Amino acid sequence: MTASRPLSAPAQRNLTASAGDPNAGDSYIRRAGRSLIYSYHAALRAIKLYPVENAAVQRALAELTTMSREIIAAEGELEIRTSGEFIFVNATRLRLDLDNYASFSHLLSLYRRAGLGTQQIDATVTARDWLVFLSLLQTAPGNEEPEQRFEILHAKLDAAGIRAFTLARPAEADEDDKEKSKERAKRTYAQSVAVTKDLMTAVRFGKSPNIKKIKRVVQGIVDQILNEETSLVGLTAIRDYDEYTFTHSVNVCIFSVAIGKRLGLTKLQLYDLGMAALFHDIGKSRVPSEVLNKVEGLTDEEWKQIAAHPWMGVLCLFQLRGTQDLHYRAMIVAHEHHMKVDLTGYPRTVRPRQMSVFSKIVAVADGFDAATSRRSYQTTPLNPADVMKEMRDNARRGMDPVLVKAFVNLTGIYPIGTLVVLDTFELGLVHAGNPIAEMLSRPIVRIISDARGNILFPGYLVDLADRGQDGAFKRTIIKTDQPDRYGIRVGDYFI
Ligand SMILES: [Fe+2]
Ligand SMILES: [Fe+2]
Repeated sequence: MTASRPLSAPAQRNLTASAGDPNAGDSYIRRAGRSLIYSYHAALRAIKLYPVENAAVQRALAELTTMSREIIAAEGELEIRTSGEFIFVNATRLRLDLDNYASFSHLLSLYRRAGLGTQQIDATVTARDWLVFLSLLQTAPGNEEPEQRFEILHAKLDAAGIRAFTLARPAEADEDDKEKSKERAKRTYAQSVAVTKDLMTAVRFGKSPNIKKIKRVVQGIVDQILNEETSLVGLTAIRDYDEYTFTHSVNVCIFSVAIGKRLGLTKLQLYDLGMAALFHDIGKSRVPSEVLNKVEGLTDEEWKQIAAHPWMGVLCLFQLRGTQDLHYRAMIVAHEHHMKVDLTGYPRTVRPRQMSVFSKIVAVADGFDAATSRRSYQTTPLNPADVMKEMRDNARRGMDPVLVKAFVNLTGIYPIGTLVVLDTFELGLVHAGNPIAEMLSRPIVRIISDARGNILFPGYLVDLADRGQDGAFKRTIIKTDQPDRYGIRVGDYFI
């Protein structure tokens, strides 16, 4: 179908496919739909950042209105529908790629929060309609259930005399999907820990582990991270397990794959990276457990045994039966993951060398998980936000700054599971990074205590980027703190 009237300049710019354009084969609605979501996102941001009279807000609203009307003129209708992690415009699923990741996930999270599934836009839509709707959409809800939020949104639109939108709740299956993906994440996590335990135990006793099983587990992790990563990344916050060595390997695998995804690695590369990450500490199964779990300081001899785990890891991997299926990169990662980018770590290198990208990714994931975990010799885990800051700012940690940045992007400045004290005197646990890039320091937080310190369970989610009527942020992080001080087990809120 073609447009029945000329397109506006911005729409023209967005829709014209040039010869080398990778999207040239896309249908009109795919391209128009993508441009529409960009404009939608841009308008939301402008409204959030500037007062209504600001030219940027007016421009963004005008563009969104023009785009909507053009699609209606071309297609006879305009409907935006979300389902799971996907956005459909007029029943055509839009492709998610790195460029539109932020706008897609932002829109999905706002729809979800408002209990909204489908939005039909009428041909009469005006900039004012959009302004009212978008402002309501990003107003933070109270403690209501999404069901009620949908009703409230509806009532407010009615009261404002806005008739250009027909709204509907998500299809029943969607809520199920969310629960299912949470369940799936838990299953994947538990399976991964069990398989890693088998692996390490087998190697410790000189038996050959089942590599196929391990591969399946890593594939499960990669698939889940590509589809819906929040649930699985959230589970890494359960750091108070006794089985540190196994959960550590699984966490490092999850973080590494999530970083790799942000770098645009292919699915196959992510499998290799995930395998390498899961095996990175395999050499520790050759270190006596008394040494690994020692509470007091290590003697020189014991330290030497621990510092040998990288090259012992390489030997283990050589000896594993079925190693032909294991990418050689896993060996490099086992060998290099403590080297640091300036090669001041261990093992010492004789000749100058460059750490492989996989090793650098695993080093970032490893450094973070190790420092935030409770281990025999580290009874108080460090605060995730402090660890993140240290990794970013202290060059002596030897982390690749670009990869640390990718990691910060993944978890926010306050990583998932951080306990935060808010200016409302409530306590919160960081639930997810804010999808809006400018709001890295304002994550989605689960409120777990009221202002008087009464602990709430399971608490409720709030977006720290939400502003009140006066335009000021409703809640702001004052500081981070140790969950122990309040008798809180972070893991309980993520199960
Ligand atoms: Fe290690
Ligand atoms: Fe490690």
